[in-house]
Amino acid sequence: MNTSTNANLPGQPHIAYLGDQLHVEGVALSQLAREHGTPLFVYSKAAMLSALAAYQRGFAGRQAQICYAMKANSSLAILQVFAEAGCGFDIVSGGELARVLAAGGDPAKVIFSGVGKTRHEMKQALQVGIGCFNVESEAELDVLSAVAVSMGKHAPVSLRVNPNVDPKTHPYISTGLKGNKFGVAHEEALRAYRHAASLPGLKVVGIDCHIGSQITDSTPYLDAMDRVLDLVAEVESAGIPIHHIDFGGGLGINYNGDTPPQADALWAQLLAKLDARGYGQRQLMIEPGRSLVGNAGVCLTEVLYLKPGEQKNFCIVDAAMNDLPRPAMYQAFHQIVPVTPRSGDGVVFDVVGPVCESGDWIGRDRQMLVLAGDVLAVLSAGAYCMSMASNYNTRGRAAEILVDGTKAHLIRQRESAFDTFALEQLV
Ligand code: LLP
Repeated sequence: MNTSTNANLPGQPHIAYLGDQLHVEGVALSQLAREHGTPLFVYSKAAMLSALAAYQRGFAGRQAQICYAMKANSSLAILQVFAEAGCGFDIVSGGELARVLAAGGDPAKVIFSGVGKTRHEMKQALQVGIGCFNVESEAELDVLSAVAVSMGKHAPVSLRVNPNVDPKTHPYISTGLKGNKFGVAHEEALRAYRHAASLPGLKVVGIDCHIGSQITDSTPYLDAMDRVLDLVAEVESAGIPIHHIDFGGGLGINYNGDTPPQADALWAQLLAKLDARGYGQRQLMIEPGRSLVGNAGVCLTEVLYLKPGEQKNFCIVDAAMNDLPRPAMYQAFHQIVPVTPRSGDGVVFDVVGPVCESGDWIGRDRQMLVLAGDVLAVLSAGAYCMSMASNYNTRGRAAEILVDGTKAHLIRQRESAFDTFALEQLV
């Protein structure tokens, strides 16, 4: 354990030990925990912008729009960071659209994905003039056309095609296989495009695919691209022009020694293929989520009790599955490190939260030297943690801090118990 040098943690470029204190950029995490309490999410603005810069480098000289998949972390100030950096947004609900507008995002740079858009959400999106609907079924095409006609508008549409490519990731976050609910099957795509082109309320503008999340190998992307480009050729030779090609998101991050390609390296490979097939100068879109924010955030949590046992030692902390749902949902691994390390070897603990479920664990079999009162940092917590947090066990959701250099901005206050039941009433 590093106790005295300036040491970055693997995969977390702006999170490092300075002396014996873990910092996010120029701010000591022990100080933030004292001031704001725990559990506490802390994000690095520089880490987000440098993750974004890798995509921007990858697309230099191309017509490309990066639409941040805000489901990864939809806090307003995070959206503001990406909006100010020129990003559009990939949304999956009317609620997310409302957040984009509240954060100052440009609706013309919004693409609306998801298999279950309601008529109300379609209307809301048409009213503000979103860039594109990524439509996932023929039934949705009919409904969207009817809604647009009733408003005297044309809805810009792209069809999400399911390329039937295995992204080799956790089954719950794999989306581009035949058995998944997402997208229009490759074999049915031409028919669906003809159908879309025939409907009075639609204007076909693009094609998209998204094969899964936490993808650590470039091969599935290259295979999916081939399948999508085959379809572009087919659809265009049927007389339906495809203005933009959207390759979705999905690039993985380093949680536990994972070695995904860097965004710029991945795009060099993908663009070489696009060029070789003559599509390099098309308008391109992508929808990255996790790779922009995942390694930019940590969750601070205080050790409440150590509970040694015959079979297991438990380290009981004040964050739980309602704050950090990924281990319980996907058996996901997050590194856990002390913000102020102690010297020595420690013992092996399961790190668990206070929620009344055995599934409420944050890390298993972790060698740690800790005492009650110590603050731990759960790493790689910038994506799919706060955005998936719940109030289970009437636990208020954590506060959030955005660090920018030596400044720490409180971007979300801690929810009180009262906040969690403020919309309820007695009969
Ligand atoms: N576009 C679409 C249509 C998506 O469904 C997703 C993610 C993305 C883009 C962004 O993918 P990313 O770049 O973040 O991999 N809660 C899970 C991840 C669910 C991903 C859902 N879709 C987790 O914590 O691992």
